[in-house]
Amino acid sequence: MLEYLYPIRTYLIVAGTIEKPNAMTADWVIPLSFEPSLVGISIEHTRYTNKLIKEQKNFVVAVPTLELLRDVWIAGTTSGAKTNKAEKMSVTFVRSEHVDAPSIKECQANIECRVVNEVEVGDHTLFVGEIVNVTCGDAFISGKPDLNYSYILHSSFGKGFTVNRQEEFKP
Ligand SMILES: Cc1cc2nc3c(=O)[nH]c(=O)nc-3n(C[C@H](O)[C@H](O)[C@H](O)COP(=O)(O)O)c2cc1C
Repeated sequence: MLEYLYPIRTYLIVAGTIEKPNAMTADWVIPLSFEPSLVGISIEHTRYTNKLIKEQKNFVVAVPTLELLRDVWIAGTTSGAKTNKAEKMSVTFVRSEHVDAPSIKECQANIECRVVNEVEVGDHTLFVGEIVNVTCGDAFISGKPDLNYSYILHSSFGKGFTVNRQEEFKP
């Protein structure tokens, strides 16, 4: 039933440490509150990322662009429980400024979050993260996303992806 909500933007959730980072792909990333600044991520119980975040209580939401699609696919189809994804992916993990979970240098934004609530929602955990720091690339230099960059959208469940259009429409 949830396929009717697609296309949905796609992100990378980073957990672990700079010594042992793990990135997983996630569509289910939800803005929740301006003040305090809260974002939700819905992570299935079976994911290694779920275990890591329950232990470390922080994570990073990294914003990839189309150039990183191959890495997004690797992060979304292999588990850190069995594979060191950092070795398979082409991205560079770097220290975050306020949390243990690393950031990804090639992503256009790295949103550093501390877990303030965890809600079991069916087969997923909704981690509510308070945003404690953000670092940005050129795509956000004006404070708003530059639409000349291709932000990744997941077309539906499966292997298809698309991107935003450059033109904007005013109501
Ligand atoms: C495009 C895409 C979006 C995904 N979105 C989510 C999501 O929002 N929540 C989730 O639990 N899994 C999602 N997944 C599946 C996980 O990324 C996948 O199971 C991954 O291997 C988990 O890695 P881990 O075991 O290292 O945490 C998605 C996969 C893809 C390819």
